[in-house]
Amino acid sequence: MSRMTIGILGGSGFVGGVLANRLVAGGHRVRIFTRARSHAREVWLLPDTEVIELDPREQEQYNHGFAGLDAVVNLVGILNERGDDGTGFRQAHVDIPLRAAKACKTADVPHLLHMSALNADSFAPSYYLRSKGEAEKLLLAESGKRLTVTILRPSVMFGPHDDFTNRFAALLRLAPGVFPLARADARLQPVFVGDVAEAMLRCLTRREAAGQRYDLGGPEVMTLGEIVSYLGRVIGRPVRVIGLNGFLSSLQANILEHVPGKPFSRDNLRSLSEDSVCPQANGLDQLGIEPTPMRVVVPRYLGGGDLRHRYYAHRTSAGRD
Ligand SMILES: NC(=O)c1ccc[n+]([C@@H]2O[C@H](COP(=O)([O-])OP(=O)(O)OC[C@H]3O[C@@H](n4cnc5c(N)ncnc54)[C@H](OP(=O)(O)O)[C@@H]3O)[C@@H](O)[C@H]2O)c1
Repeated sequence: MSRMTIGILGGSGFVGGVLANRLVAGGHRVRIFTRARSHAREVWLLPDTEVIELDPREQEQYNHGFAGLDAVVNLVGILNERGDDGTGFRQAHVDIPLRAAKACKTADVPHLLHMSALNADSFAPSYYLRSKGEAEKLLLAESGKRLTVTILRPSVMFGPHDDFTNRFAALLRLAPGVFPLARADARLQPVFVGDVAEAMLRCLTRREAAGQRYDLGGPEVMTLGEIVSYLGRVIGRPVRVIGLNGFLSSLQANILEHVPGKPFSRDNLRSLSEDSVCPQANGLDQLGIEPTPMRVVVPRYLGGGDLRHRYYAHRTSAGRD
């Protein structure tokens, strides 16, 4: 396999950091595009990696920045927008990948690997999933002789520094033994970010994987309530999860939407109205990757250092919980 130079839009984030490390470990060069260099601090010292500022509204900057790349990976994404009318999601999830596809054609970059999400669909219940679905449709229309577009659709991802297990762990540390939870019965298939990075590498390096669309999920399907109880046990703060009914879920979303940092929003609630589970084949299996269970990874970064936590981390790693 020859050495490639891969551009990563949104490469300063959670997935971007893991992917950049995986690519560099595989002998490739990386060019990370960011709105501000300071956002990409985590990868400043990574060898064979350059960090370039790019104004995501300026087509010319993509055209120029993509020169000499073998492939571009688009990881730009937001979980919440400023208002609640879809505008912010469209700007981040549709306009940016389309500019990236155009720039790939202008700069003769033959491959665009785009990160979407399970359940992305133009008719999905949330603006988040609708914008992701819209982008898939438009990017597939751009795919052809000059540009191959590959799409990955993961369920929720976990790993050190994620915004999912870490956020719940932070809330659980404040919980008084009970934890009221919206859509506690929503079914998810959490997938390890390291497995997703490996899937990306295989899509970039294997001819037969390029141009495909893969749903990605972990080895277990769990309800959100089960995941939260599990995280409570891992951090040594077991809780009783109380599933909220539709009215209370929506009340919780309406309130938390106005809390700084928007920990939960009406749009998040709409996304959770559908199970995030691979409907058919799991792309990890198709790409020859064995999915990593949460119990193998999560206790290592959430488990904490005291004896009780270490004991629990051992139990969960051994599959006894
Ligand atoms: N994490 C998950 O569980 C999950 C699940 C399914 C799908 N996904 C998708 O996977 C991708 C990567 O997710 P992630 O968890 O790594 O996200 P992340 O940590 O939030 O990183 C996303 C990156 O996007 C860039 N970005 C954010 N808003 C932007 C905007 N308005 N304009 C331009 N750039 C913007 C930021 O880069 P700069 O600030 O450096 O510009 C940021 O580093 C996203 O597309 C996400 O939707 C994630």
